[in-house]
Amino acid sequence: MKTGEFQNPHRKIVGRTIWHYDAVESTNDTMKELLETDVPEGLVVWADRQAAGKGRHGRSWASPPGGLYLSVLLRPKEVHAQILGLLAGMPLVKALRHFGVFAVLKWPNDAIFQGRKLAGILSEGVYRKDTYHVVLGVGINTNLDLDRLPPDIQKRATSLKREVNLFVANEECLEYFLEQMDDVYSRYRNTPTGLMMKEYRGACGTIGKQVSVQTPEAKIVGKAFDVTPTGALVVLDAHEKRHEIVDGTVEYLA
Ligand code: BTN
Repeated sequence: MKTGEFQNPHRKIVGRTIWHYDAVESTNDTMKELLETDVPEGLVVWADRQAAGKGRHGRSWASPPGGLYLSVLLRPKEVHAQILGLLAGMPLVKALRHFGVFAVLKWPNDAIFQGRKLAGILSEGVYRKDTYHVVLGVGINTNLDLDRLPPDIQKRATSLKREVNLFVANEECLEYFLEQMDDVYSRYRNTPTGLMMKEYRGACGTIGKQVSVQTPEAKIVGKAFDVTPTGALVVLDAHEKRHEIVDGTVEYLA
């Protein structure tokens, strides 16, 4: 149920209007339903919990109360949508730094701190009424009670609360993220994508690592060498063969 609405006229696009819900199935799905109506670019749907939170590659995203769950509506050029999903990782790690947690990006856009996942992004492209929209869903483990999550998630995840030993207000974390995302999105719209991707490469901790990448077609093992200007991860395998990966799940081997 929608429980509140906030305006921030100082924002250029992202987060000028925020709709707050107590519970939804998935903020991404709520946003997609809202596309049937006339909603502005930059609208944010924020929920206290999700009954069916979604992760990348059909995985689920545990979404109990305590975490931060939001989706932003964007209308980029379709050709640049893949890049936008990657670039959204930069405001994510900047927002986490406000709380003293120096997370780094794992390609494409996971925020990782000391080997554990703190936040993730699910970017979905949708056509409605002849217009291409991107629903950018962001989940941040702010005050999650990790002990209550399944053991496999406990092993791989962490939360801001655990890392800084303090309660982190979701409103504050949301504001920091939206402020940074608004800045990145307006620069992205006015800057050659190659330059924005240069900035992304500087923030991506995957480059230089030994990786195993599960793609929809195969598992590729080698050294993550670069990220192309269109956002693909470049991996050199043991035979020096170059693979350009546009979709996959990365694991670090060392
Ligand atoms: C991932 O790392 O697999 C992506 C996780 C994305 C989770 C967020 S929570 C808010 C938004 N709504 C969803 O159902 N998923 C995204």
